[in-house]
Amino acid sequence: MSTKYVLAIDQGTTSSRAIVFTHEGTIHSVGQLEHDQIFPRAGWVEHNPEQIWNNVREAVGLALTRGNLTHADLAAVGITNQRETAVVWDKTTGKPVYNAIVWQDTRTQKIVDELAGDEGLEKYKSRVGLPLATYFSGPKVTWILDNVEGAREAAERGDLLFGNTDTWVLWNMTGGTDGGVHITDVTNASRTMLMNIDTLTWNEDIAADMRIPMSMLPEIRSSSEVYGHGRKRGMVPDVPIAGILGDQQAATFGQACFEKGSAKNTYGTGNFMLLNTGTEPVASKNGLLTTVCYKIGDAPQVYALEGSIAVTGSLVQWLRDNLGLFEEAPDIEYYANKVEDNGGAYFVPAFSGLFAPHWRSDARGALVGLTRFVNKNHIARAALEATAFQTREVLDAMNADSGVDLTELRVDGGMVANELLMQFQADILDVDVIRPEVAETTALGAAYAAGIAVGFWDGEADVTANWREGKRWSPSMESDERERQYRLWKKAVTKTLDWVD
Ligand code: G3P
Repeated sequence: MSTKYVLAIDQGTTSSRAIVFTHEGTIHSVGQLEHDQIFPRAGWVEHNPEQIWNNVREAVGLALTRGNLTHADLAAVGITNQRETAVVWDKTTGKPVYNAIVWQDTRTQKIVDELAGDEGLEKYKSRVGLPLATYFSGPKVTWILDNVEGAREAAERGDLLFGNTDTWVLWNMTGGTDGGVHITDVTNASRTMLMNIDTLTWNEDIAADMRIPMSMLPEIRSSSEVYGHGRKRGMVPDVPIAGILGDQQAATFGQACFEKGSAKNTYGTGNFMLLNTGTEPVASKNGLLTTVCYKIGDAPQVYALEGSIAVTGSLVQWLRDNLGLFEEAPDIEYYANKVEDNGGAYFVPAFSGLFAPHWRSDARGALVGLTRFVNKNHIARAALEATAFQTREVLDAMNADSGVDLTELRVDGGMVANELLMQFQADILDVDVIRPEVAETTALGAAYAAGIAVGFWDGEADVTANWREGKRWSPSMESDERERQYRLWKKAVTKTLDWVD
Protein backbone atom coordinates (compact mmCIF):
# COMPACT_ATOMS: atom_id res chain seq x y z
CA MET A 1 0.00 0.00 0.00
CA SER A 2 1.56 3.34 -1.02
CA THR A 3 -0.65 5.55 1.13
CA LYS A 4 0.10 5.18 4.79
CA TYR A 5 -2.32 7.46 6.59
CA VAL A 6 -5.97 8.37 7.05
CA LEU A 7 -7.09 11.91 7.85
CA ALA A 8 -10.02 12.64 10.16
CA ILE A 9 -11.73 16.02 10.31
CA ASP A 10 -13.44 16.61 13.66
CA GLN A 11 -15.73 19.61 13.31
CA GLY A 12 -16.64 20.09 16.99
CA THR A 13 -18.58 22.60 19.05
CA THR A 14 -15.59 24.71 20.06
CA SER A 15 -13.00 23.91 17.41
CA SER A 16 -12.26 22.16 14.13
CA ARG A 17 -9.45 19.66 14.15
CA ALA A 18 -7.68 17.62 11.55
CA ILE A 19 -5.83 14.54 12.77
CA VAL A 20 -3.69 12.22 10.67
CA PHE A 21 -3.70 8.61 11.90
CA THR A 22 -1.34 5.74 11.16
CA HIS A 23 -2.42 2.20 10.34
CA GLU A 24 -1.86 1.28 14.02
CA GLY A 25 -4.43 3.91 15.06
CA THR A 26 -1.84 6.27 16.55
CA ILE A 27 -1.71 10.02 15.97
CA HIS A 28 0.80 11.23 13.36
CA SER A 29 -0.04 14.97 13.31
CA VAL A 30 -2.73 17.45 14.31
CA GLY A 31 -4.07 20.85 13.21
CA GLN A 32 -6.68 22.68 15.29
CA LEU A 33 -8.48 26.05 15.21
CA GLU A 34 -11.18 27.38 17.52
CA HIS A 35 -14.16 29.28 16.15
CA ASP A 36 -16.29 32.03 17.69
CA GLN A 37 -19.12 31.17 20.05
CA ILE A 38 -21.82 33.72 19.24
CA PHE A 39 -24.42 34.44 21.96
CA PRO A 40 -26.85 37.01 20.49
CA ARG A 41 -29.36 36.62 23.36
CA ALA A 42 -29.88 34.53 26.48
CA GLY A 43 -30.34 30.92 25.38
CA TRP A 44 -29.15 31.51 21.79
CA VAL A 45 -25.89 29.96 20.53
CA GLU A 46 -24.62 30.38 16.97
CA HIS A 47 -21.55 29.61 14.85
CA ASN A 48 -20.43 31.21 11.60
CA PRO A 49 -20.44 28.38 8.99
CA GLU A 50 -17.96 30.19 6.71
CA GLN A 51 -15.51 30.59 9.58
CA ILE A 52 -15.92 26.89 10.31
CA TRP A 53 -15.20 25.93 6.69
CA ASN A 54 -12.12 28.20 6.57
CA ASN A 55 -10.89 26.70 9.84
CA VAL A 56 -11.38 23.16 8.55
CA ARG A 57 -9.27 23.96 5.49
CA GLU A 58 -6.57 25.57 7.60
CA ALA A 59 -6.58 22.73 10.14
CA VAL A 60 -6.13 20.18 7.33
CA GLY A 61 -3.25 22.24 5.92
CA LEU A 62 -1.62 22.42 9.35
CA ALA A 63 -1.97 18.69 10.01
CA LEU A 64 -0.41 17.84 6.63
CA THR A 65 2.43 20.36 6.97
CA ARG A 66 3.25 19.37 10.54
CA GLY A 67 3.20 15.71 9.54
CA ASN A 68 5.45 16.45 6.54
CA LEU A 69 2.81 14.95 4.26
CA THR A 70 0.84 15.81 1.15
CA HIS A 71 -2.63 14.70 0.14
CA ALA A 72 -0.99 11.89 -1.85
CA ASP A 73 -0.06 10.21 1.45
CA LEU A 74 -3.72 9.88 2.43
CA ALA A 75 -5.77 6.75 1.74
CA ALA A 76 -9.04 8.41 2.75
CA VAL A 77 -10.66 11.20 4.74
CA GLY A 78 -13.32 10.73 7.42
CA ILE A 79 -15.56 13.45 8.83
CA THR A 80 -17.01 13.63 12.32
CA ASN A 81 -18.97 16.53 13.71
CA GLN A 82 -20.94 18.27 16.41
CA ARG A 83 -24.38 16.84 15.81
CA GLU A 84 -27.76 18.63 15.46
CA THR A 85 -26.21 22.06 14.74
CA ALA A 86 -28.12 23.28 11.68
CA VAL A 87 -26.73 25.11 8.64
CA VAL A 88 -28.97 26.37 5.80
CA TRP A 89 -27.28 27.70 2.69
CA ASP A 90 -28.01 28.82 -0.86
CA LYS A 91 -26.84 26.16 -3.32
CA THR A 92 -26.15 28.70 -6.08
CA THR A 93 -24.08 31.19 -4.11
CA GLY A 94 -22.76 28.76 -1.50
CA LYS A 95 -23.57 31.36 1.19
CA PRO A 96 -25.33 30.44 4.45
CA VAL A 97 -28.60 32.36 4.84
CA TYR A 98 -28.08 32.57 8.61
CA ASN A 99 -25.50 31.54 11.19
CA ALA A 100 -25.50 27.88 12.19
CA ILE A 101 -27.93 27.34 15.08
CA VAL A 102 -26.02 25.26 17.60
CA TRP A 103 -27.34 22.16 19.39
CA GLN A 104 -27.23 24.00 22.75
CA ASP A 105 -29.52 26.79 21.48
CA THR A 106 -33.00 26.94 23.09
CA ARG A 107 -34.72 29.49 20.81
CA THR A 108 -37.01 26.86 19.27
CA GLN A 109 -38.95 26.29 22.48
CA LYS A 110 -42.14 27.82 21.06
CA ILE A 111 -41.92 25.81 17.84
CA VAL A 112 -41.36 22.65 19.89
CA ASP A 113 -44.38 23.38 22.12
CA GLU A 114 -46.57 24.04 19.07
CA LEU A 115 -45.47 20.79 17.44
CA ALA A 116 -46.15 18.88 20.67
CA GLY A 117 -49.69 20.31 20.91
CA ASP A 118 -52.02 18.06 22.90
CA GLU A 119 -50.04 14.94 22.03
CA GLY A 120 -47.05 15.97 24.14
CA LEU A 121 -43.28 15.85 23.75
CA GLU A 122 -43.19 12.13 22.89
CA LYS A 123 -45.37 12.65 19.80
CA TYR A 124 -42.73 11.51 17.29
CA LYS A 125 -40.68 9.27 19.58
CA SER A 126 -41.84 5.92 18.21
CA ARG A 127 -40.96 7.07 14.68
CA VAL A 128 -37.66 8.92 15.22
CA GLY A 129 -36.44 7.68 18.61
CA LEU A 130 -36.31 11.20 20.10
CA PRO A 131 -38.55 13.34 22.29
CA LEU A 132 -39.43 16.80 21.01
CA ALA A 133 -36.75 19.15 22.38
CA THR A 134 -34.89 22.28 21.33
CA TYR A 135 -31.76 20.09 20.99
CA PHE A 136 -32.56 18.56 17.59
CA SER A 137 -32.11 20.02 14.09
CA GLY A 138 -35.60 19.98 12.54
CA PRO A 139 -37.15 22.84 14.55
CA LYS A 140 -33.94 24.87 14.09
CA VAL A 141 -34.50 24.71 10.31
CA THR A 142 -38.13 25.76 10.82
CA TRP A 143 -36.91 28.75 12.83
CA ILE A 144 -34.55 29.85 10.05
CA LEU A 145 -37.24 29.53 7.37
CA ASP A 146 -39.72 31.46 9.54
CA ASN A 147 -37.35 34.23 10.57
CA VAL A 148 -34.87 34.95 7.77
CA GLU A 149 -36.33 37.24 5.14
CA GLY A 150 -36.94 35.44 1.85
CA ALA A 151 -35.70 32.10 3.19
CA ARG A 152 -39.02 30.25 3.02
CA GLU A 153 -39.66 31.34 -0.60
CA ALA A 154 -36.10 30.38 -1.59
CA ALA A 155 -36.47 27.00 0.14
CA GLU A 156 -39.75 26.34 -1.65
CA ARG A 157 -38.11 27.21 -4.99
CA GLY A 158 -35.53 24.50 -4.20
CA ASP A 159 -32.66 26.97 -3.80
CA LEU A 160 -31.70 26.20 -0.20
CA LEU A 161 -29.92 23.21 1.31
CA PHE A 162 -29.87 22.05 4.91
CA GLY A 163 -27.11 20.11 6.58
CA ASN A 164 -25.40 19.50 9.88
CA THR A 165 -21.76 20.49 9.83
CA ASP A 166 -20.74 17.12 8.33
CA THR A 167 -22.84 17.90 5.27
CA TRP A 168 -21.64 21.50 5.10
CA VAL A 169 -17.98 20.44 5.20
CA LEU A 170 -18.50 17.57 2.72
CA TRP A 171 -20.40 19.78 0.25
CA ASN A 172 -17.60 22.35 0.33
CA MET A 173 -14.80 19.77 0.16
CA THR A 174 -16.33 18.12 -2.89
CA GLY A 175 -16.66 21.34 -4.88
CA GLY A 176 -19.39 23.47 -3.27
CA THR A 177 -21.30 25.40 -5.94
CA ASP A 178 -19.25 23.48 -8.51
CA GLY A 179 -20.69 20.00 -8.01
CA GLY A 180 -20.51 19.55 -4.23
CA VAL A 181 -22.35 16.44 -3.00
CA HIS A 182 -25.27 16.94 -0.60
CA ILE A 183 -25.05 13.91 1.66
CA THR A 184 -25.23 12.99 5.34
CA ASP A 185 -24.86 9.69 7.14
CA VAL A 186 -27.43 7.71 9.13
CA THR A 187 -26.02 8.76 12.51
CA ASN A 188 -26.33 12.47 11.84
CA ALA A 189 -29.72 12.03 10.19
CA SER A 190 -30.92 10.23 13.33
CA ARG A 191 -30.46 13.50 15.29
CA THR A 192 -32.61 15.71 13.07
CA MET A 193 -36.04 14.38 14.28
CA LEU A 194 -36.77 13.86 10.59
CA MET A 195 -35.49 10.33 9.96
CA ASN A 196 -37.47 7.13 10.52
CA ILE A 197 -35.36 5.24 13.04
CA ASP A 198 -36.20 1.81 11.59
CA THR A 199 -36.08 2.40 7.80
CA LEU A 200 -33.39 5.15 7.84
CA THR A 201 -35.39 7.26 5.38
CA TRP A 202 -36.74 10.79 5.76
CA ASN A 203 -40.21 11.04 7.30
CA GLU A 204 -42.21 13.27 4.96
CA ASP A 205 -45.07 13.75 7.46
CA ILE A 206 -42.80 15.13 10.16
CA ALA A 207 -41.00 17.33 7.61
CA ALA A 208 -44.46 18.63 6.58
CA ASP A 209 -45.39 19.30 10.23
CA MET A 210 -42.17 21.28 10.57
CA ARG A 211 -42.82 22.99 7.20
CA ILE A 212 -39.43 21.90 5.83
CA PRO A 213 -39.35 21.25 2.03
CA MET A 214 -37.96 17.78 1.25
CA SER A 215 -35.67 19.31 -1.40
CA MET A 216 -33.57 20.85 1.40
CA LEU A 217 -32.68 17.51 2.96
CA PRO A 218 -29.43 15.71 2.13
CA GLU A 219 -29.30 12.16 0.83
CA ILE A 220 -28.89 9.65 3.68
CA ARG A 221 -25.99 7.21 3.24
CA SER A 222 -24.15 4.69 5.41
CA SER A 223 -21.33 5.81 7.72
CA SER A 224 -18.62 4.09 5.68
CA GLU A 225 -18.56 4.38 1.89
CA VAL A 226 -17.04 6.71 -0.70
CA TYR A 227 -19.27 9.83 -0.88
CA GLY A 228 -17.03 11.81 -3.21
CA HIS A 229 -13.48 13.06 -3.65
CA GLY A 230 -11.70 16.14 -2.44
CA ARG A 231 -11.32 19.06 -4.82
CA LYS A 232 -8.39 21.40 -4.87
CA ARG A 233 -9.94 24.09 -2.69
CA GLY A 234 -10.71 21.41 -0.10
CA MET A 235 -6.95 20.75 0.13
CA VAL A 236 -7.15 17.00 -0.47
CA PRO A 237 -7.60 16.73 -4.25
CA ASP A 238 -8.75 13.29 -5.44
CA VAL A 239 -8.64 11.73 -1.97
CA PRO A 240 -11.81 9.69 -1.28
CA ILE A 241 -14.00 11.09 1.47
CA ALA A 242 -15.29 7.83 2.79
CA GLY A 243 -16.57 8.03 6.37
CA ILE A 244 -19.06 10.17 8.28
CA LEU A 245 -20.14 9.64 11.88
CA GLY A 246 -21.67 12.10 14.34
CA ASP A 247 -19.01 12.78 16.95
CA GLN A 248 -20.53 10.67 19.73
CA GLN A 249 -21.10 7.73 17.44
CA ALA A 250 -17.55 8.15 16.11
CA ALA A 251 -16.20 7.95 19.66
CA THR A 252 -18.23 4.78 20.26
CA PHE A 253 -16.71 3.29 17.09
CA GLY A 254 -13.19 4.46 18.01
CA GLN A 255 -13.62 2.89 21.46
CA ALA A 256 -14.36 -0.42 19.73
CA CYS A 257 -17.77 -0.74 21.45
CA PHE A 258 -18.96 -3.31 18.91
CA GLU A 259 -20.50 -5.78 21.36
CA LYS A 260 -24.12 -5.37 22.32
CA GLY A 261 -24.01 -4.02 25.90
CA SER A 262 -20.68 -2.17 25.57
CA ALA A 263 -20.66 1.56 26.33
CA LYS A 264 -18.51 4.67 26.27
CA ASN A 265 -18.81 8.13 27.78
CA THR A 266 -17.27 11.19 26.12
CA TYR A 267 -16.40 14.26 28.22
CA GLY A 268 -16.55 17.27 25.87
CA THR A 269 -18.51 20.54 26.10
CA GLY A 270 -21.31 18.17 27.11
CA ASN A 271 -21.20 14.48 28.03
CA PHE A 272 -22.62 11.74 25.90
CA MET A 273 -22.89 8.10 26.96
CA LEU A 274 -23.77 5.57 24.26
CA LEU A 275 -24.66 1.94 24.85
CA ASN A 276 -24.54 -0.42 21.87
CA THR A 277 -27.92 -2.20 21.66
CA GLY A 278 -27.31 -4.26 18.50
CA THR A 279 -29.19 -4.28 15.22
CA GLU A 280 -32.68 -3.50 16.60
CA PRO A 281 -33.69 -0.08 17.94
CA VAL A 282 -34.56 -0.21 21.66
CA ALA A 283 -37.09 2.30 23.00
CA SER A 284 -36.11 3.93 26.29
CA LYS A 285 -38.47 4.13 29.26
CA ASN A 286 -36.00 6.17 31.26
CA GLY A 287 -35.28 9.34 29.31
CA LEU A 288 -32.61 8.08 26.91
CA LEU A 289 -32.54 8.60 23.16
CA THR A 290 -32.71 5.86 20.55
CA THR A 291 -30.12 6.66 17.95
CA VAL A 292 -28.22 5.04 15.10
CA CYS A 293 -24.74 4.06 16.28
CA TYR A 294 -23.17 3.24 12.90
CA LYS A 295 -23.75 1.50 9.59
CA ILE A 296 -20.75 0.14 7.76
CA GLY A 297 -21.51 0.02 4.02
CA ASP A 298 -24.20 -2.56 3.26
CA ALA A 299 -24.01 -4.27 6.67
CA PRO A 300 -27.09 -3.84 8.91
CA GLN A 301 -27.16 -0.71 11.01
CA VAL A 302 -26.29 -0.90 14.70
CA TYR A 303 -28.27 1.13 17.24
CA ALA A 304 -27.48 2.75 20.57
CA LEU A 305 -29.23 4.16 23.58
CA GLU A 306 -27.80 7.58 24.35
CA GLY A 307 -27.73 9.71 27.47
CA SER A 308 -26.96 13.27 26.38
CA ILE A 309 -25.88 15.85 28.98
CA ALA A 310 -25.77 19.40 27.66
CA VAL A 311 -23.27 21.04 30.01
CA THR A 312 -20.11 19.49 31.48
CA GLY A 313 -16.86 20.85 30.00
CA SER A 314 -18.67 24.05 29.01
CA LEU A 315 -19.31 24.68 32.74
CA VAL A 316 -15.53 24.78 33.22
CA GLN A 317 -15.28 27.23 30.30
CA TRP A 318 -18.07 29.32 31.85
CA LEU A 319 -16.24 29.51 35.20
CA ARG A 320 -13.12 30.57 33.30
CA ASP A 321 -14.70 33.06 30.85
CA ASN A 322 -17.76 34.44 32.63
CA LEU A 323 -16.53 34.40 36.24
CA GLY A 324 -12.75 34.55 35.67
CA LEU A 325 -12.23 31.86 38.33
CA PHE A 326 -9.03 30.62 36.67
CA GLU A 327 -6.89 31.29 33.58
CA GLU A 328 -6.91 27.96 31.78
CA ALA A 329 -9.58 25.23 31.87
CA PRO A 330 -7.22 22.49 33.21
CA ASP A 331 -6.42 24.78 36.23
CA ILE A 332 -9.76 23.75 37.71
CA GLU A 333 -8.15 20.55 38.97
CA TYR A 334 -5.53 22.51 40.93
CA TYR A 335 -8.21 24.50 42.79
CA ALA A 336 -10.53 21.53 43.29
CA ASN A 337 -7.62 19.59 44.80
CA LYS A 338 -7.04 22.27 47.44
CA VAL A 339 -10.12 21.12 49.34
CA GLU A 340 -11.19 17.70 50.56
CA ASP A 341 -14.77 17.93 49.40
CA ASN A 342 -17.36 20.32 47.96
CA GLY A 343 -18.00 21.99 51.33
CA GLY A 344 -21.71 21.30 50.89
CA ALA A 345 -22.03 23.07 47.50
CA TYR A 346 -23.81 21.43 44.55
CA PHE A 347 -23.75 23.01 41.10
CA VAL A 348 -26.45 21.97 38.60
CA PRO A 349 -25.45 23.54 35.24
CA ALA A 350 -28.88 23.51 33.56
CA PHE A 351 -27.80 26.28 31.17
CA SER A 352 -29.69 24.76 28.21
CA GLY A 353 -32.40 23.25 30.38
CA LEU A 354 -31.72 19.67 31.45
CA PHE A 355 -31.20 16.97 28.84
CA ALA A 356 -31.12 13.24 29.69
CA PRO A 357 -32.70 11.76 31.62
CA HIS A 358 -34.92 14.72 32.59
CA TRP A 359 -35.67 16.56 29.31
CA ARG A 360 -36.75 19.70 31.17
CA SER A 361 -36.28 22.78 29.02
CA ASP A 362 -37.80 24.87 31.84
CA ALA A 363 -34.78 24.22 34.08
CA ARG A 364 -31.99 26.76 34.61
CA GLY A 365 -28.67 26.48 36.43
CA ALA A 366 -28.35 26.61 40.21
CA LEU A 367 -25.55 26.59 42.78
CA VAL A 368 -27.05 25.43 46.07
CA GLY A 369 -25.94 24.46 49.57
CA LEU A 370 -23.96 27.66 50.02
CA THR A 371 -22.70 28.91 53.37
CA ARG A 372 -19.95 31.41 54.18
CA PHE A 373 -17.62 28.44 54.46
CA VAL A 374 -17.79 27.80 50.71
CA ASN A 375 -14.90 29.29 48.70
CA LYS A 376 -13.64 29.28 45.13
CA ASN A 377 -12.02 25.87 45.57
CA HIS A 378 -15.27 24.26 46.68
CA ILE A 379 -17.04 25.76 43.67
CA ALA A 380 -14.35 24.38 41.35
CA ARG A 381 -14.85 20.99 42.97
CA ALA A 382 -18.66 21.19 42.78
CA ALA A 383 -18.36 22.02 39.06
CA LEU A 384 -16.26 18.91 38.40
CA GLU A 385 -18.54 16.79 40.53
CA ALA A 386 -21.55 18.00 38.50
CA THR A 387 -20.14 16.14 35.51
CA ALA A 388 -19.84 12.93 37.52
CA PHE A 389 -23.31 13.21 39.10
CA GLN A 390 -25.00 13.89 35.77
CA THR A 391 -23.21 10.84 34.36
CA ARG A 392 -24.51 8.75 37.28
CA GLU A 393 -28.09 9.78 36.40
CA VAL A 394 -27.52 8.62 32.83
CA LEU A 395 -25.85 5.37 33.88
CA ASP A 396 -28.77 4.56 36.19
CA ALA A 397 -31.15 5.12 33.24
CA MET A 398 -29.01 2.83 31.02
CA ASN A 399 -29.02 0.09 33.63
CA ALA A 400 -32.79 0.41 34.09
CA ASP A 401 -33.46 0.36 30.32
CA SER A 402 -31.17 -2.55 29.52
CA GLY A 403 -31.91 -4.56 32.67
CA VAL A 404 -28.18 -5.28 33.00
CA ASP A 405 -25.77 -3.29 35.16
CA LEU A 406 -22.73 -1.96 33.33
CA THR A 407 -19.58 -3.26 34.95
CA GLU A 408 -17.09 -0.85 33.44
CA LEU A 409 -17.12 2.30 31.37
CA ARG A 410 -14.74 3.37 28.61
CA VAL A 411 -14.15 7.12 28.66
CA ASP A 412 -12.63 9.71 26.32
CA GLY A 413 -12.69 13.43 25.53
CA GLY A 414 -10.86 16.46 26.90
CA MET A 415 -11.87 16.15 30.56
CA VAL A 416 -10.54 12.62 31.00
CA ALA A 417 -7.11 14.16 31.59
CA ASN A 418 -8.53 15.34 34.93
CA GLU A 419 -7.47 12.71 37.50
CA LEU A 420 -9.64 14.09 40.29
CA LEU A 421 -12.74 13.93 38.10
CA MET A 422 -11.99 10.42 36.85
CA GLN A 423 -11.49 9.05 40.39
CA PHE A 424 -14.66 10.78 41.58
CA GLN A 425 -16.48 9.40 38.54
CA ALA A 426 -15.47 5.83 39.42
CA ASP A 427 -16.50 6.49 43.06
CA ILE A 428 -19.93 7.88 42.19
CA LEU A 429 -20.70 5.23 39.55
CA ASP A 430 -19.20 2.35 41.54
CA VAL A 431 -17.71 0.90 38.34
CA ASP A 432 -14.22 0.91 36.85
CA VAL A 433 -13.55 3.82 34.50
CA ILE A 434 -11.10 3.11 31.68
CA ARG A 435 -9.25 5.54 29.42
CA PRO A 436 -7.70 4.10 26.25
CA GLU A 437 -4.11 4.78 25.24
CA VAL A 438 -5.34 6.98 22.36
CA ALA A 439 -8.02 9.15 23.97
CA GLU A 440 -8.80 10.96 20.65
CA THR A 441 -11.39 8.34 19.90
CA THR A 442 -13.84 10.69 18.14
CA ALA A 443 -11.46 11.51 15.31
CA LEU A 444 -10.12 7.97 15.36
CA GLY A 445 -13.63 6.53 14.88
CA ALA A 446 -14.18 8.68 11.79
CA ALA A 447 -10.77 7.68 10.45
CA TYR A 448 -11.64 4.00 10.92
CA ALA A 449 -15.00 4.40 9.13
CA ALA A 450 -13.23 6.01 6.16
CA GLY A 451 -10.29 3.61 6.17
CA ILE A 452 -12.57 0.56 6.26
CA ALA A 453 -14.49 1.85 3.22
CA VAL A 454 -11.31 1.96 1.11
CA GLY A 455 -9.75 -1.26 2.46
CA PHE A 456 -7.04 0.50 4.51
CA TRP A 457 -8.40 -1.43 7.50
CA ASP A 458 -10.25 -4.72 7.12
CA GLY A 459 -13.09 -3.99 9.52
CA GLU A 460 -14.09 -3.86 13.17
CA ALA A 461 -11.58 -6.57 14.12
CA ASP A 462 -8.71 -4.22 13.20
CA VAL A 463 -10.23 -1.49 15.39
CA THR A 464 -10.52 -3.90 18.33
CA ALA A 465 -6.93 -5.05 17.83
CA ASN A 466 -5.69 -1.44 17.88
CA TRP A 467 -7.60 -0.51 21.08
CA ARG A 468 -5.38 -0.56 24.17
CA GLU A 469 -6.17 0.29 27.78
CA GLY A 470 -4.30 3.39 28.97
CA LYS A 471 -5.43 3.97 32.56
CA ARG A 472 -8.05 2.52 34.90
CA TRP A 473 -9.69 4.13 37.95
CA SER A 474 -11.47 1.85 40.44
CA PRO A 475 -14.08 2.93 43.00
CA SER A 476 -12.77 3.58 46.51
CA MET A 477 -15.67 5.45 48.17
CA GLU A 478 -17.80 3.85 50.91
CA SER A 479 -21.27 3.12 49.58
CA ASP A 480 -23.04 5.15 52.34
CA GLU A 481 -21.03 8.21 51.41
CA ARG A 482 -21.68 7.65 47.68
CA GLU A 483 -25.41 7.45 48.18
CA ARG A 484 -25.46 10.42 50.61
CA GLN A 485 -23.78 12.66 48.03
CA TYR A 486 -25.97 11.42 45.20
CA ARG A 487 -29.09 12.05 47.29
CA LEU A 488 -28.00 15.67 47.81
CA TRP A 489 -27.28 16.03 44.11
CA LYS A 490 -30.78 14.87 43.24
CA LYS A 491 -32.23 17.35 45.71
CA ALA A 492 -30.16 20.10 44.06
CA VAL A 493 -31.63 19.13 40.67
CA THR A 494 -35.17 19.74 41.96
CA LYS A 495 -34.18 23.36 42.71
CA THR A 496 -33.54 24.07 39.02
CA LEU A 497 -36.92 23.00 37.64
CA ASP A 498 -39.82 25.24 36.62
CA TRP A 499 -37.60 28.25 36.35
CA VAL A 500 -38.63 29.64 32.95
CA ASP A 501 -41.88 31.63 32.93
O1 G3P B 1 -24.93 16.37 20.36
C1 G3P B 1 -23.93 17.35 20.48
C2 G3P B 1 -22.57 16.73 20.38
O2 G3P B 1 -22.44 16.03 19.19
C3 G3P B 1 -21.51 17.79 20.57
O3 G3P B 1 -20.31 17.22 20.90
O4 G3P B 1 -17.95 17.19 21.52
O5 G3P B 1 -18.74 18.95 19.97
O6 G3P B 1 -19.38 19.02 22.36
P1 G3P B 1 -19.01 18.15 21.21
